[in-house]
Amino acid sequence: EERKQSLTAEIKRLLKARNAVLVAHYYTDHEIQALAEETGGCVADSLEMARFGRDAQEQTLIVAGVRFMGETAKILSPEKQVLMPTLEATCSLDLGCPVKEFSEFCDQHPDHTVVVYANTSAAVKARADWVVTSSIALEIVEHLDSLGKPIIWGPDRHLGAYIAKQTGADMLMWQGECIVHDEFSAQKLQDMKALYPDAAILVHPESPASVVEMADAVGSTSQLIKASQTLPHEKFIVATDKGIFYKMQQLAPHKTFIEAPTAGNGATCRSCAHCPWMAMNGLEAIYNALSEGSEGHEIFVEEGLRQKALVPLNRMLDFSA
Ligand code: 13P
Ligand code: SF4
Repeated sequence: EERKQSLTAEIKRLLKARNAVLVAHYYTDHEIQALAEETGGCVADSLEMARFGRDAQEQTLIVAGVRFMGETAKILSPEKQVLMPTLEATCSLDLGCPVKEFSEFCDQHPDHTVVVYANTSAAVKARADWVVTSSIALEIVEHLDSLGKPIIWGPDRHLGAYIAKQTGADMLMWQGECIVHDEFSAQKLQDMKALYPDAAILVHPESPASVVEMADAVGSTSQLIKASQTLPHEKFIVATDKGIFYKMQQLAPHKTFIEAPTAGNGATCRSCAHCPWMAMNGLEAIYNALSEGSEGHEIFVEEGLRQKALVPLNRMLDFSA
């Protein structure tokens, strides 16, 4: 606890001294989210993180999240220094969508519009026509569908299936998944719902269709947080990374939030509702990013690639503006 306090104080000092701001995702540790709030940074979903980083006045962004979030920040703000607590923090969706194979898949369907989730490498974004995050994916696919365009969707198959079902759009799917959300179990959720019949079920659409079908609200992290405030329920069963409980509880202290069950438990679950890569973002790692040399922390995106990836990213930001 003492160590945490001194780390927090040091980080605050270094943020000021280096003209840096902390941009954190809702899945990071509670201490990191609190620190971002206290120091004028942001805690947000992927779309808002991108926008906040782009608009920030500071020279340095400390992106607490996973690698694609740091890359997105750099693509949007090449003049800023973008540091991450660790460059090792990846994402199973990014890992499961190598650019060579994905490009070949796209090349086989040249008449399709390529829509990729933000959870991808800069190289995959550079191959895409549109980038989307979960908070804006439905609207963008609806728009493309209204133009009569068939779509290649990658990499999250569950989010893709949800959007195809909602919009009726013609979508060819890449078969990727998030190891955290893929693990939620509809069968166990039925049992839990029987225990808490009055609870509302909140589900992130990276979850399997069988879990999404049981939801009272489906959406991105920010949309689920909003639902937790606006729905009249007192209890919520939440199928997303448990990092989100910090914000939900902060905004509705009298409400009760319960973790949705995963297929395995204890030693047998792959992620136990917490992303192992998000978990790499400790206070210690943030302190290191600010105090050590930038090696092992700084994000670089090759300029040719950056310019290509910027086009579909800006389409998303302009669409959602
Ligand atoms: P959102 O915060 O955009 O819903 O993204 C969820 C996610 O899995 C990020 O890793
Ligand atoms: Fe990727 Fe899932 Fe982790 Fe988000 S929670 S970074 S989608 S593995």
